Amino acid sequence: MSHDNDKRHRLLGRLDRQLACTAPVLVLVAAGVSLQATMENESSDSGPSTLSLFLSSAHAEAQGEAEGEAEGEAEAEGEAEGEAEGEAEGEGEAEGEGEGEAEGEAEAAKADSREAVKRPEGYTPVYSEDGANDASLLAQGEALYYDDSLSSNGLACASCHGSDGEDVGYQATFEQPFPHRVAMADSRFGMPEVHADEMVQVCMVAPMEAEPLGWGSEALTSLAAYMVEVQRRFAGESHDL
Ligand code: HEC
Repeated sequence: MSHDNDKRHRLLGRLDRQLACTAPVLVLVAAGVSLQATMENESSDSGPSTLSLFLSSAHAEAQGEAEGEAEGEAEAEGEAEGEAEGEAEGEGEAEGEGEGEAEGEAEAAKADSREAVKRPEGYTPVYSEDGANDASLLAQGEALYYDDSLSSNGLACASCHGSDGEDVGYQATFEQPFPHRVAMADSRFGMPEVHADEMVQVCMVAPMEAEPLGWGSEALTSLAAYMVEVQRRFAGESHDL
């Protein structure tokens, strides 16, 4: 496994722990992305990966948000330095008076955003989550996985998750069949477990900064089917996560 990959996995692990106990709002994704754009041409050793920038932004934001205070500081550090773990963590010890209020607002915001990514009532998925899907559906999903026009920030799913089978940016939770728990879906949207199509929507709305796909649309159906396929393959391989 490459050095870059190790770093990615460590960062993913750290995000997981962070998200488990804070109320993050991943607003700083945009900051991470524009940094990434300027670093894209550098070698992988000298520039942080898209995923690590995304995670460090999310981390700084999560800290600022959870502490109620120190938000400006954490954000500023995060933007200026890209890797703001140290600073963001050290700051914001202050227990602000408005903390309870901020927590309530965070919960309400979570419930709101959950609406966009949770299967709506009366919706029946048209892909299989516990078996094989049609080859043409999978091919369609695979093409979309590499399509950066799905996002508003120039990212494709593969920007963070890598090419299937080569550079896999997934957490250990991905070894379980859907539905299962994914830290980001739980902490950010308050969903204790997600179906494949819901997880696609979570990544559409959060890291891809886009509108959710239409429920029952070909795009959502094929991407979800493709993720089920990748998950099945992933579960059958050994991973050092
Ligand atoms: C900017 C980076 C980024 C982009 C772009 C992105 N994701 Fe994600 N994705 C993440 C992060 C971070 C997680 C959550 C890891 C965690 O909380 O365990 C995640 C989790 C997932 C998971 C759950 C894996 C598991 O553990 O079960 C799936 C499936 C997924 N993404 C699919 C997609 C798809 C499909 C797209 C494109 C529509 C996409 N992602 C785009 C960062 C990204």
